[in-house]
Amino acid sequence: MDFDQRLHNVTIIGAAGKMGSGISLLLAAEMAKAKNRPENKGSSYRLNLIDIKDEAMDGLWNYMQAQLTKIGEKSTVFLRDMYKNRENLVENFDIIPQFVSDALSVIRMGTDLNMAKNSKVIFEAVLENKDLKVDLLKKLDSLCPDDTLYLTNTSSIPINVLNDEANLGGRIIGFHFYNPPVVQRLAELISCDKTTSELKEFSNELAKRLRKVIVPANDIAGFIGNGHFLRDGLYAISEAKRLAGDFTLAGGIYVMDKVSRDLLVRPMGIFQLIDYVGVDVYQCISETVDSYIEGEDLKDDLLQKMVDKKVLGGQMADGSQKDGFLKYEKGRPAGVYDLDKSEYKMFDPDGWSGEVDRKLGEYPDGFYPWRKLLIDLKKNDKLSGFFNNLKSTDTLGAKLALAYLKNSKEIGQKLVDSKVANSAEDVNAVLLNGFYHLYGPINNYI
Ligand SMILES: NC(=O)c1ccc[n+]([C@@H]2O[C@H](COP(=O)([O-])OP(=O)(O)OC[C@H]3O[C@@H](n4cnc5c(N)ncnc54)[C@H](O)[C@@H]3O)[C@@H](O)[C@H]2O)c1
Repeated sequence: MDFDQRLHNVTIIGAAGKMGSGISLLLAAEMAKAKNRPENKGSSYRLNLIDIKDEAMDGLWNYMQAQLTKIGEKSTVFLRDMYKNRENLVENFDIIPQFVSDALSVIRMGTDLNMAKNSKVIFEAVLENKDLKVDLLKKLDSLCPDDTLYLTNTSSIPINVLNDEANLGGRIIGFHFYNPPVVQRLAELISCDKTTSELKEFSNELAKRLRKVIVPANDIAGFIGNGHFLRDGLYAISEAKRLAGDFTLAGGIYVMDKVSRDLLVRPMGIFQLIDYVGVDVYQCISETVDSYIEGEDLKDDLLQKMVDKKVLGGQMADGSQKDGFLKYEKGRPAGVYDLDKSEYKMFDPDGWSGEVDRKLGEYPDGFYPWRKLLIDLKKNDKLSGFFNNLKSTDTLGAKLALAYLKNSKEIGQKLVDSKVANSAEDVNAVLLNGFYHLYGPINNYI
């Protein structure tokens, strides 16, 4: 069966979740395009969006409608060409609603797994829980045709484990989108030992059509992206705890978030990123990877304490950030969680956080925030200059940043040495395209 035939009936499981909703959006847009190709005239397209949360369906529909409009607004040149033979579609205000309507018309939403029964392709994006995923995959396999292909978005569970336990005979691949799937350019592809060549080809073609950068990873828990992110975050947690003697734990979290964002010139501080992914999701990834990797402690009790307090981060239905390690006001960190008091300690530039900033010291010359460098054609030179200055700066902030950079590089190198990644270039490509870093962890800056 060729790619286009497979696209006629697709299902997303966990469609109302953070990743599921983004994957749904990408697929709906792609199916609207396929439907309008002359060679597909008259073919029917169906995208089943299934989630256990019935109450989330209205929100999902509104999200799809609003985001498809945004995609339409950004693709007017493409859409004009696509609708060039439709005489009634002339202006953008004709074309964009038609595209939204074409995309929405393929969608069916519901909570019943039976909706998937004619699907040739299924994306699985439910919680990061192996037993839940295996149970669903088994149920789906008993409902769907024998040749249905399964693309799982798991962040950490080995694909061989899912394949073997759900008995899929190689009709599964890790197609790991990054958060948010519409924005992040990366698709990390993880085959298991038996993944069929048809599924590999399908996945490569899909990634190409969605204009994603493909990086292959080997089937070792956590893969490349979370292999790095998990260890990077655990390092920050251990440093925050070490600094607690001088700054309190909340102060240590504040310090490590600030250092990792500003002095490493990243789009977010590490604790903000954990909140963005979800403290509970990050905790699941940590538990899972820890259970498969021997000789390394990849858990931390701080995560469980946050989960026990139900301080989980993640996003609201409208995409805004929920409070986690940090408290957010207008989308920006404004406070830090104090576990002992179970309340947020708000940043206070004239008080405690101003005092911590003074102890961290001035930033070296050549500092530019991430956003400034993002579209700067000379960013590599500027980063090189800044990191050189960082090395000759004798402040607490500079020392913490250099140790952090060194640790991040070691994590990257370890991913290559332990054959999770095929090369340093692949590790760097994952961080550049899936995390929007400006430079890869394996670099000559340090
Ligand atoms: N959050 C991230 O940044 C991120 C990034 C890449 C990959 N992932 C992976 O994507 C997957 C989903 O993560 P998420 O962050 O979107 O989680 P989420 O909690 O936002 O979404 C999970 C969705 O699955 C639904 N669900 C649970 N049980 C179900 C069932 N039995 N049937 C149907 N739906 C069910 C939930 O109602 C929820 O809407 C996980 O495997 C995660 O590791 C997450």
